[in-house]
Amino acid sequence: MRRFKILATARALPPRVLTNAELETMIDTTDQWIVERTGIRERRIAAPEVATSDLAAEALLSACNAAGLGPEALDVLIVATSTPDTLFPSTACWVQHKLGLRGPAAFDVSAGCSGWLYGMELAASLIAGGGARTAAVIGAEVMSKVVNWEDRSTCVLFGDGAGAAILTACEEDRGLLGSAWGADGTLARVLYQPAGGTRQPASAESVAARAHTVHMEGNTVFKHAVTAMSEGAIEALKRAGVTPEDVTLLIPHQANTRIMEATRARTAIAPAKMVSIVDRYGNMSAATIPVALDEARAAGRLKDGDLLAMTAFGTGFTWAAQVLRV
Ligand code: ACO
Repeated sequence: MRRFKILATARALPPRVLTNAELETMIDTTDQWIVERTGIRERRIAAPEVATSDLAAEALLSACNAAGLGPEALDVLIVATSTPDTLFPSTACWVQHKLGLRGPAAFDVSAGCSGWLYGMELAASLIAGGGARTAAVIGAEVMSKVVNWEDRSTCVLFGDGAGAAILTACEEDRGLLGSAWGADGTLARVLYQPAGGTRQPASAESVAARAHTVHMEGNTVFKHAVTAMSEGAIEALKRAGVTPEDVTLLIPHQANTRIMEATRARTAIAPAKMVSIVDRYGNMSAATIPVALDEARAAGRLKDGDLLAMTAFGTGFTWAAQVLRV
């Protein structure tokens, strides 16, 4: 067991709600199609001047307030995101810039929708290995700025938001009991943003071709997501030495209800134990699990000593699953 406790969690969501009814006026789609295929009813959209670090900083400050410590008490600040403010410096450093924060090590994790669990895996190991005593792991995305709003097969899926957790070393039997993570880069082109990096730098042509937006083969993502998320969760449970019945809550990455439900069924965790927020926020990529975790804690669904299972899948492809004693 890699021991730590979650001191606090928090979330930051832009106030602007974009409903399926409003999308019906923008593109050739219907509320019925979106709800049946994805379970999504509305999502939050950041204002034009809001960047990923703004949401990340808001979530971090709320979490620090809830934990009763200032951000300068952190040893490390990890931001999981696929929608960074800039390619460099990292969004984590922009968070520090916004807060006037000097000192804690700060870096981003780029692992798509698995990013927050990748960040948790790192933080747990840093704490266990002595590289950090207190860590913040933030998942933050402004997906709305990398979506092609004329592509109905992708733009209906995503939303903006951020969630943060503050972890600290402890002596009790709490922390990461078992985990599994991996990646398959041979499938990199199934879900990606073609332009804006060194492969296809920004140019008038790349902008005209909308090559800076999400390109995705939805069906392929769907199949791999269910397999990887369920197999990851089953492996993490095995490594933790616990059964599906022992689990208090399952938080799957919130991509769409069909993927989540198929994952839950294969993992054999009872329906009532699954946390679902995708109807209200859509797919916030790396932010979905920490936002769902914060809402579950706020609703009193998770108490000290409970077992939490989390599993995710994302661009790369990447996957990660963890079983925590909270
Ligand atoms: N409204 C109405 N019709 C639509 C829309 C829309 N918004 N989008 C696509 N369609 C149409 C298609 O054009 C197609 O029409 P056609 O049969 O005339 O060609 C029809 O609906 C069926 O399209 P499919 O792509 O086969 O629909 P499918 O049932 O596979 O659902 C979806 C598509 C929802 C994208 C599904 O494949 C999916 O959920 N995939 C996972 C993608 C995902 O979650 N990605 C997120 C990032 S990765 C992650 O988070 C794990």
